[in-house]
Amino acid sequence: MALLEVRDLHTAFTTPAGTVNAVNGVSFNLERGKVLGIVGESGSGKSVTAYSIMQILEKNGKIVSGSVKLDGQELVDAGEKVMKTVRGNKISIIFQDPMTSLNPTYTIGHQLMEAIMLHTPRNKKEAWDRAVEMLRLVNVNEPEKRMKQYPFEFSGGMRQRVMIAMALACEPDILIADEPTTALDVTIQAQILELMQSLQKELGMAIIMITHDLGVVAQMCDEVIVMYAGSI
Ligand SMILES: Nc1ncnc2c1ncn2[C@@H]1O[C@H](COP(=O)(O)OP(=O)(O)OP(=O)(O)O)[C@@H](O)[C@H]1O
Ligand SMILES: [Mg+2]
Repeated sequence: MALLEVRDLHTAFTTPAGTVNAVNGVSFNLERGKVLGIVGESGSGKSVTAYSIMQILEKNGKIVSGSVKLDGQELVDAGEKVMKTVRGNKISIIFQDPMTSLNPTYTIGHQLMEAIMLHTPRNKKEAWDRAVEMLRLVNVNEPEKRMKQYPFEFSGGMRQRVMIAMALACEPDILIADEPTTALDVTIQAQILELMQSLQKELGMAIIMITHDLGVVAQMCDEVIVMYAGSI
């Protein structure tokens, strides 16, 4: 049994102009500890596939039919209570745009600790230690000092490292990385990818790597699927 089995997934959005069938019968398996690439042109349904797996679609979006099994457990009709334990604990996601996923009004440390305490049974002190450890792991310099800073004090590459730290802090079985480096310049991109690769080896998690970049696929992925107009 594969760690994640997606079968004939259909996701649609209701819009004033009619129904948008964003995902049209997508099926794939993700094996434990493997890296699966999803490539395809803009608008082909890569992000919507990821959001469907996590069930974090916008309000006008809905999984119409199909199956998403995690470790054999059906998620599509599992309900929000089950999904809350899946998100962050079992599957984490790094979003396309790191600026919109960090809250500008809280310190980096606060946000990391909040995520850690939400998803693992750690108290405040333990969450602080874990957050510092994760920042160190993703090569953020002077992590203790950085914990007390705000997102605007971080560069784009460092913010993305924080997002990776946050996604990994809860030790997920699956990391979904939705174009984790497109907002960054080329040298930083390479560093982040190397970092993800070494963490993947170290922690043994499976990754779904969504990207436009076939170089990234060649470097990182065991398998690749190509999406076009909502299908593979
Ligand atoms: N909330 C929404 N309402 C209506 N249509 C939507 C919504 N979200 C996504 N879509 C549509 O679903 C389709 C797939 O979008 P998706 O974001 O998955 O593309 P993508 O492959 O991730 O593209 P990119 O590479 O640009 O990120 C697109 O046609 C998009 O316009
Ligand atoms: Mg996308």
